[in-house]
Amino acid sequence: MTDDNAAGDWTSLAEAMVEAIKRAGYLHRAPLELAFRETPRHLFVPEFFRLKPNAEGFSAIDGVVRADDPDWLATVYSNEALITQVKPIAGQTGATAFTSSSSAPALMADMIDELRIDRGMNVLEVGTGTGYNAAILCHLLGDRAVTTIDIDPELTERARERLAALGYRPSFEPADDSHDRILATHAVAEVPPEWIRWSRPGAVILADFRAPANSNIGAWLKLVVDQDGATATGTLMDPRGYFMNARKVPEFAYAGEPAPEFTDEEHRQRAQQTERRRTALRSGVLDLPDFALYLWLTAPGLAFAMTPDGDASLNGPRAESWAYVADGTVYYGGAEDLWAVVEHAYRVWEWCRRPPKETWTLKVSARGTTSVHLPGEDGSVRAG
Ligand SMILES: C[S@@+](CC[C@H](N)C(=O)[O-])C[C@H]1O[C@@H](n2cnc3c(N)ncnc32)[C@H](O)[C@@H]1O
Repeated sequence: MTDDNAAGDWTSLAEAMVEAIKRAGYLHRAPLELAFRETPRHLFVPEFFRLKPNAEGFSAIDGVVRADDPDWLATVYSNEALITQVKPIAGQTGATAFTSSSSAPALMADMIDELRIDRGMNVLEVGTGTGYNAAILCHLLGDRAVTTIDIDPELTERARERLAALGYRPSFEPADDSHDRILATHAVAEVPPEWIRWSRPGAVILADFRAPANSNIGAWLKLVVDQDGATATGTLMDPRGYFMNARKVPEFAYAGEPAPEFTDEEHRQRAQQTERRRTALRSGVLDLPDFALYLWLTAPGLAFAMTPDGDASLNGPRAESWAYVADGTVYYGGAEDLWAVVEHAYRVWEWCRRPPKETWTLKVSARGTTSVHLPGEDGSVRAG
C-alpha cells in the first residue's frame, strides 16, 4: 500500500480530475460524482507502466512509474487508463499483451451511467483489476451490494486488501439469481452463461463484445435478462471504450486462436487442392464494420481479414477450409467454400437493407449461444 505522504493532498487532485471528466461530458449524477471525488485512486494504482508508441504505432512499455516518480500522482489523477499488468500471449512465442489496468475514469463513469446503477441494486463487476472501480461502486451502493471477480487471483487478493483499507468488504463470490446489474471491464467474444445464471430476471448486463483476434470487429452489448431468468435479449451500440480481451487462464493474455501454421508439404497439398471460381462480391465487404460484425456473429470460427492489397483471406475452424479472394476470383479448398458463407451472409444483410447494428436483436441462450436477428429477417441465424 502506498503511504499517504507520497500522495500529499490528493483530494484537490481528485477534484480537478472530476472537473475534467465533467467537462468531457460525463458524471451527471451527484452520488457518482461524489464517489469519484472521495475515492483515492492512488491507493489502487501504486505503480503503472509508462507507454510510448513503437515503430508500428502501437503502445509499448517504456518503464514503470512508481510513487517516487514526479509524474506518478498527477497521472493517477488524470482521466487516463493506467496499465498495471502485462503477460505473455498464449500461443505466440515472445509476444506480450496488457492484461490489467485501471480503466479511464470517464469510461468507468460512462458504463455505470449507461447501466443506471443506483442505490438498492446489487451489482457484479467482472474484471476487478486494481479494485478502483469496485471502490467507486462500494461508495455509490454500499459494499454489501457489490461483488467483484477477476480471473487472476493475484489481482483479487491485492484489490481485497486495498478495498479493506478503505473499510470496504465487497463479495468476491457471485451468487445465482442475485445481481441486478453486471458490468464487464474486459471484452468478451461469447457471453459466459453464468452471467445469466447469476442475474435476476430483468437484470441488465453491459460488456464490450469483440472478436479477440480483430479489435475492429465489435460493439458494446447491452443485455436484459428475460423473465424466465435463463435467457437474455440484447442490443448493440457503438463502443465508447475498448477493453482487454477476456483471458482464459490467469497466466496468459489471450489474442484469439493462433493462426494455423503449415509445413511446406501441407502448403503444397493445399495448393493442389485449391479450386477457383468467379464471384460478384468484392473482397472489400469485409471492411464494412457492421457487415464484418454480422459475419463474425453468424459464422462462428471463421477467421477473415483483408490483406494490405485489398484481397480477402479466410480460414475456417481448425483450418479445415481456406479461401482467398482477389480481383473477382475465389481460390478455395477444404471442407467448405468459405467465400460462399460470406456471400450468403451478405445476401441476407443486403436483403434486410443493410441494417445498422443498433437495430439488430441478439438472443443469448442458457448455454451462452448467441443468435442475431436483423430487422425484417425471417427466422434467425445461429452464432457462436
Ligand atoms: C481493464 S482491467 C479491469 C479494470 C478494473 N475494473 C479496475 O478498476 O482497475 C480488466 C480485468 O479483467 C480481468 N479479466 C480478464 N479476463 C477475465 C475473465 N475471463 N474473467 C474475469 N476477469 C477477467 C483482467 O484480469 C483484468 O484485471
